[in-house]
Amino acid sequence: MEYHITQYDLEQGALEIQYIEEFFGEFPRKKTATEIVRRLSGRRHLILLATAPLPDDPGTVAPVSFKVAHEITVGETEPKLADLVHRLSDNVRFPGRRILYTWIGGTRRDWRGQGFFRALTEQQERWAIDQGFDEIVVKTKNKFYEMRGTLDHLRFEVVKYERHGADNAESKVYLSKKLLPEMVSKHRSAKTVVEIRD
Ligand SMILES: CC(C)(COP(=O)(O)OP(=O)(O)OC[C@H]1O[C@@H](n2cnc3c(N)ncnc32)[C@H](O)[C@@H]1OP(=O)(O)O)[C@@H](O)C(=O)NCCC(=O)NCCS
Repeated sequence: MEYHITQYDLEQGALEIQYIEEFFGEFPRKKTATEIVRRLSGRRHLILLATAPLPDDPGTVAPVSFKVAHEITVGETEPKLADLVHRLSDNVRFPGRRILYTWIGGTRRDWRGQGFFRALTEQQERWAIDQGFDEIVVKTKNKFYEMRGTLDHLRFEVVKYERHGADNAESKVYLSKKLLPEMVSKHRSAKTVVEIRD
């Protein structure tokens, strides 16, 4: 199987992400395009989407999986990101290194288990290595079992666990993967990548 991936520019990518998130019943609060633009502007970022034919109408392709990541640094001033960096700083080394944070991502239910997220993750790794990033970090929750299982398969390591006082299912789990150029040769997904530039 060959995966079809598009790397979007900010404005169009934000609209695409807003659109695809509508298909995710499990996301409690969906991101708007405005929110996505606000978060990503002025920082190095990557918006990737995979498309696939609709089973009942193979002539039509639709976005089925996505991944959005951006750089985080010790100098963050936006409170949410400053807090994230603070929480990570005991477990992820920032000085002199470039850290990519996978902010949001997922695969639409009907297309899960077909390798779309692996294909996006491998493309993200290739891009991040090319851009000089040293590590990719991601945050999830204990209760997101599918995501935890997937990150395990994709060889992310747990770097921090933050216990939620009342409900352990809500506890936060931080994971990371250190990047090495030779990783790219171990990638498994065949893919075509189209880049849409600003
Ligand atoms: C997690 C998610 C992105 C996986 O997407 P996907 O396209 O089905 O993943 P892939 O098919 O590319 O699978 C990648 C790897 O993870 C494994 N995997 C996928 N789903 C899994 C699951 N539910 N449990 C365990 N492993 C799983 C696959 O076997 C595969 O491993 P392999 O390549 O070594 O065989 C998708 O299930 C999803 O969107 N879930 C909801 C997202 C969510 O919970 N978000 C909450 C915020 S973090």
